[in-house]
Amino acid sequence: MANRRIIAVTGATGAQGGGLARAILDEPDGGFAVRAITRNPGSDKARELAAHGAEVVAADVDDPASLRKAMAGAWGAYCVTFYWAHFSPERELAEAGNLAQAVRDAGLGHVIWSTLEDTRQWVPLSDDRMPTLMDKYKVPHFDSKGEANHLFTDLGVPTTFLLTSFYWDNLIHFGMGPKAGPDGKLAFTLPMGDARLPGIASEDIGRCAYGIFKGGSEYIGRTVGIAGEHLTGTQMAEQLGAALGREVVYNSVTPAQYRAFGFPGAEDLGNMFQFKHDFEDYFCGARDPAVARRLNPALQTFAQWLEQNVSRIPLE
Ligand SMILES: NC(=O)c1ccc[n+]([C@@H]2O[C@H](COP(=O)([O-])OP(=O)(O)OC[C@H]3O[C@@H](n4cnc5c(N)ncnc54)[C@H](OP(=O)(O)O)[C@@H]3O)[C@@H](O)[C@H]2O)c1
Repeated sequence: MANRRIIAVTGATGAQGGGLARAILDEPDGGFAVRAITRNPGSDKARELAAHGAEVVAADVDDPASLRKAMAGAWGAYCVTFYWAHFSPERELAEAGNLAQAVRDAGLGHVIWSTLEDTRQWVPLSDDRMPTLMDKYKVPHFDSKGEANHLFTDLGVPTTFLLTSFYWDNLIHFGMGPKAGPDGKLAFTLPMGDARLPGIASEDIGRCAYGIFKGGSEYIGRTVGIAGEHLTGTQMAEQLGAALGREVVYNSVTPAQYRAFGFPGAEDLGNMFQFKHDFEDYFCGARDPAVARRLNPALQTFAQWLEQNVSRIPLE
């Protein structure tokens, strides 16, 4: 550990941070070591990381003192916040501020902030193509991350801004997989019309982040967007059908219909998909699979991800 550069990883027991932690641990001679940040070092996932060689440290992004301790002595950090744990953009902003302050106090050499667009730069609150949510947001879980970018730059943190993409894993964990209708046919629902949706295996986000740390100073101050592939709803449904061995139809709904589905976060996600649809060329252009593949040569396509994961997608 002594000669290796320590990367402190928030969310190390989760999707993005877990991918980064495993990427570093898979290359013991790569020059980096993992400090896995978790609220619960005794959990099975934390123990598993420790068993594979990670240093496991307790901290909470809501607790600045714990973060300061967790960042001390590290060389770099992966900073991610957990919007869906609380659904509060204000809290996410505060957490990003806590992270920015902690990495700055620790004097780290390279920090990756997992961010998304502040969509209000494209769709001002006065634009009524989509409703304003929580008084001052269009896509709350995007806007708060984008708004937080300046918290890192204002403090002079050497930051790479990583623009992530829709996890294909949402088909497993977020209830977004195909569902059987009353006729028994599987329908894959998205409010994307014929637009392409940049998607990625969540594991590959962390693996791309590892490529950024290896790339070093050339990435500091830059925004890097990543995706595995850009696919339309029709293409995703076809590939799902091929992997499942039964027909899957694409059920293209309007963003307004999606917002009205009523599950927690449906309005936020309806606005998000509308943003991705209405600004397709910008949104896809900002997330180049070729860039992601250079950072992570093992980058998965949707078909490869399905090969490994299709049996985990709940269909009911
Ligand atoms: N789903 C998507 O398609 C998608 C796409 C792009 C971006 N995102 C963004 O990704 C972010 C979440 O990242 P993720 O998916 O990697 O998270 P995740 O898989 O849900 O993992 C979160 C991990 O972070 C830890 N955690 C939760 N709250 C914490 C806190 N207060 N302090 C410290 N650690 C905490 C938890 O670990 P412990 O219990 O061990 O502490 C958990 O294992 C969200 O903000 C979301 O908007 C999602």
